[in-house]
Formats: sequence, structure tokens, C-alpha cells
Amino acid sequence: MIYARIAGTGSYLPGEPVSNADLVARGIDTSDEWIVSRSGIRSRHLAAADIGSSDLAKFAAERAIEAAGCEPNDIDLIIVATSTPDYIFPSTAALVQSKLGIRNGGAAFDVQAVCSGFVYALSVAEKFIRSGSHKRALVIGAEVFSRILDWSDRATCVLFGDGAGAVVLEASERPGILASALHADGSHHPILCVPGGVASGQVIGDPFLRMDGQAVFKFAVKVLGDVAGEVLAQAGVDAGSIDWLIPHQANIRIIQATAKRLGVPMERVVTTLDHHGNTSAASIPLALDEAVRSGQLRPGHRIVVEGVGGGFTWGAALIDF
Ligand code: UT7
Repeated sequence: MIYARIAGTGSYLPGEPVSNADLVARGIDTSDEWIVSRSGIRSRHLAAADIGSSDLAKFAAERAIEAAGCEPNDIDLIIVATSTPDYIFPSTAALVQSKLGIRNGGAAFDVQAVCSGFVYALSVAEKFIRSGSHKRALVIGAEVFSRILDWSDRATCVLFGDGAGAVVLEASERPGILASALHADGSHHPILCVPGGVASGQVIGDPFLRMDGQAVFKFAVKVLGDVAGEVLAQAGVDAGSIDWLIPHQANIRIIQATAKRLGVPMERVVTTLDHHGNTSAASIPLALDEAVRSGQLRPGHRIVVEGVGGGFTWGAALIDF
């Protein structure tokens, strides 16, 4: 039997942290007190104008490849989860393949599931590996959400940031990803969207992120609790067997409510959003890598990763690390 295991993790945050006070100094009508009490976010990173998602993805990928102890040309599949690709095409994954100097003809494509994107990409990569068609995948979440924020909308612009996280997922005789579940309900698309596009050389519609925060909040707490329960049930284990819950890093209150519903104490929940904000598809692999590098998450631990985002999409995976 072929299984898929995480062999290495990496992440990257661009530039210096931008604090809540820095946002106030830049003229945004907000306060550190409001942002921290409503979201738990204290700072975020914002990429320079000449840095794209493919650059952030490349830096995170290099660290994951090094941690996995392999070479770039050992990678035969690259999946990048992003809602902020460098271009309409080629895919960000193809650009990352080029920037890493990979010339082995492996597959490369993007996945678009907004903040659930990493869980979607991980689950797709797992299926490729378990089928035997590919041996070693780079699964990356990379975003420059600062480019799609309306900086005059204080209800959204203070919540998001830029960054990337990556894992190397490889074929193994030992189980790694034990269960996964992916879901979508497109009827909820108006509550979180960027309702614009490019056609005939012009922006058509609205190119900025729009969100009904309270509707998103309620939806997120419900589906994150449900989907984590679903992957535990698939594997026939309960929440007590999880060493770490690694949720999408959007809002500390959503994370606390989800953990409570699952019966997982906050001491076993990885939270990193205070210093990078909501980085959409990058948030889970960023938190995963920080947990590894800080020594919290160690080989042999069992984790649940879970995400929810625009679409609406949501998903989770149960993983033996
Ligand atoms: O990846 C998934 C993406 N999204 C999320 O996870 C977001 C989910 N939702 C949330 O996290 C919360 O709904 C928010 C943090 C977005 C907002 O928190 P809230 O407790 O739902 O606040 P609210 O939208 O009800 O706004 C409360 C007040 C309003 O003022 P009034 O009408 O009560 O006078 C807003 O105008 O807070 C005001 N407000 C702000 N004040 C200072 C909104 N944004 C700000 C701000 N600074 N940045």
C-alpha cells in the first residue's frame, strides 16, 4: 500500500512586520484595541510591489525541500494554492517550478479554493501520490492578499497579510495523511468574494475583497467543527487523540469557538495569526511550519489541519506527522 507523508515544511513572510499602530499611522481609522479584541491580530507582513506569490512560494518551498532532505529535481508534482496568482496564466505553480530550477517535466498547477486552498491542494496531492502516478509533491499556499484589499475599508484591510507556507509530501509505506474531506457550497459566494475580473484590457466589476464579516464568522465556526469531526470519524478516532489542531488562521475567536466545539483545549491549538494575520491559503502551512520549527510539533504527533474560505469552501485532513 502506498501512503503520503509530510517529509518537510517551510514558510516565508516578506519584509518587516507592520503593526496595528503602523496601520493607524498610515491613516486607517482603526485602533490596536479594536483589531486585537475582534481578531487577535497584532501585526502582518506586506510584500513589496515587485514580489509576487510565486516569489513567496519559492522561498517557502526551498525551506521545505531542505527540511525534507531532497533536491528540487526530486519533486515531480507542484500544486500551489492561491487566490492571488502572479498572472492570469501561466499558473503560479509553473512559475515556481521554473524559479526552483526544476527541469524534470513534472506536473505543476494551481488550486483555487481561497482560504481552504491548502487543504484542497494537500488532498489532491495525496490522491496523486496514493495512485502511484507521482512520488514527491510540493504543496504550497502562497498569497499577496494586500493587492486585493480596499485600503479604505477598515472592516477588511486590517485583517489580512501576505506570506507563504509549503510542505513536501512523499510516497511512503507508513501512513501519513489518514483521512481528508473537502466541501463547497457556492450559494454562499456573496458573503466573501472579489467580484471582479479582467477583460478587454480592463477591470470588469470590483477588484477588491468584499466580506460580510458576521455571516462569515457564523458559517466558519459551524463548518470547521463539522469537518474536523468528519475526518476523525473517517479514521475512527476521537478528538482526544489529536496532539495539535492547526486551523486556518483568520480570527482567534473563530479558532477558540471551533476548538471548544471539538473539545480540544487551546493548549493543543497552534495559533500564529497574531503576527501574520489572515494569509488565506498560506495560513495553515505557515502555522504548521512555525509549529515544527518552534519544537511544538514533533514526528509521531497526530494533527488535524482545517480551513474555510470563499466559495464557500471548507475541508480538513487528519495527519500522522
Ligand atoms: O478567511 C475567512 C475570512 N474572514 C473571516 O474569518 C472574518 C470573519 N469575521 C470576523 O472575523 C469578524 O466579523 C470581524 C473581525 C470582521 C468584525 O468583527 P465584528 O465583531 O463582527 O464587528 P462588526 O462587523 O459587527 O463591527 C462592529 C463595529 C462597527 O461599528 P458600529 O456600526 O457598531 O458603530 C464597525 O464599523 O466595529 C466597526 N469597525 C471597526 N472599528 C475600528 C469595523 N472595522 C473596524 C476597524 N477598526 N478596523
